[in-house]
Amino acid sequence: MATVTNIYTYPLKSAKHITSISHHVDEYGLVGDRRFIISDLQGNMLTGRTHPQIAQIVFNADNHNICLSHPSLADISMGVAEFGKDTKPITVWADSFKGHHCHQDIDAWLSQLLGEPCMLLRYGEESLRSVKRYRSNKLAFADGYPLLLISEASLTELNKRSSDNHDMLEFRPNIVVDGESDFIEDTWRRFKIGEVEFEVVKPCSRCVFTTLKLGSSEYRGNNEPVKTLKTFRQGKDNEVYFGQNVIARNQGQIRVGDKVEVLSYQTPEAYPDTSKDTPAMDNKMVNVLFDNLDKSLQINTHEPILDQALAAGVFLPRNCQAGRCGRCKMILVSGEVNQGEQSALTPFEIDNGAVLTCCATAKTDLVLNLE
Ligand code: FES
Repeated sequence: MATVTNIYTYPLKSAKHITSISHHVDEYGLVGDRRFIISDLQGNMLTGRTHPQIAQIVFNADNHNICLSHPSLADISMGVAEFGKDTKPITVWADSFKGHHCHQDIDAWLSQLLGEPCMLLRYGEESLRSVKRYRSNKLAFADGYPLLLISEASLTELNKRSSDNHDMLEFRPNIVVDGESDFIEDTWRRFKIGEVEFEVVKPCSRCVFTTLKLGSSEYRGNNEPVKTLKTFRQGKDNEVYFGQNVIARNQGQIRVGDKVEVLSYQTPEAYPDTSKDTPAMDNKMVNVLFDNLDKSLQINTHEPILDQALAAGVFLPRNCQAGRCGRCKMILVSGEVNQGEQSALTPFEIDNGAVLTCCATAKTDLVLNLE
């Protein structure tokens, strides 16, 4: 039987974790989790995917005070009573709603850190985000679901396969459990921990944020763990999955040391294991010139261009690394590629030479440009 070994919250989205030995679960997940967010002045969320400095912020909040620390700045703290009363629009992925503005001094501190004007918002009584993906439909500033659970055995299996050693906190779970079988959490449908019954909703798709080195604002150059997850945890939609998104069916307390009582099971998603496949390689090498970056590389013709560029220290723009977000789009000036998934591109973009470097492989020598 699995046991809870760690409970984590992230009061500020994308910032450092807080460890608990006992925590209350409410209708939004763990109390205090992702109840603050950084927004630009147009209401777009700013996260560690695009602003990795946020991952180094230590954010402590209670009912009376908040305190922010970062290695590059003096700490700032403020009484909640000093917060303003105004609300601002905020968009978290497809959901647009209101966040409560905190204080201009905190905005100035964050703007200095991120190098652009931004502000701190909290989730409050007028926020009212409502999602349709699950029954309780309550969600604060988390991406898609209120809670993420991962087993230590799953991490052990990933670490056996990856060239790097990964820490559980790279995956930002809320609840960590032990147990003997890797990916046992994929088989649970409903389970109980302490006073709370949980329901598994869907596997968690993982993005470039997991490639950030823990405790730093630098990305790993080799694209791990996404690279390894692609070999044994990639779905038909090309996303890679690690951990399970869960929702709570009631409110109550959970504690480290609580047993996981599984109430019902499900058939887990089957992911092809391509780690042992010998890629159909012709060992052909070609030259790629990233023209307006003034960088060139030799790359093979069987691995995605982006993976090889990152491994060589050329940090091309990217996000999902699964053909979904379009962030890695470049323009093919000359040469030929094999395009894989390209759902992020419009027919017009494809006609105009757009290439998703996270999915495309080279066929010939290439010249690519950022737009
Ligand atoms: S990184 Fe998202 S489409 Fe390539």
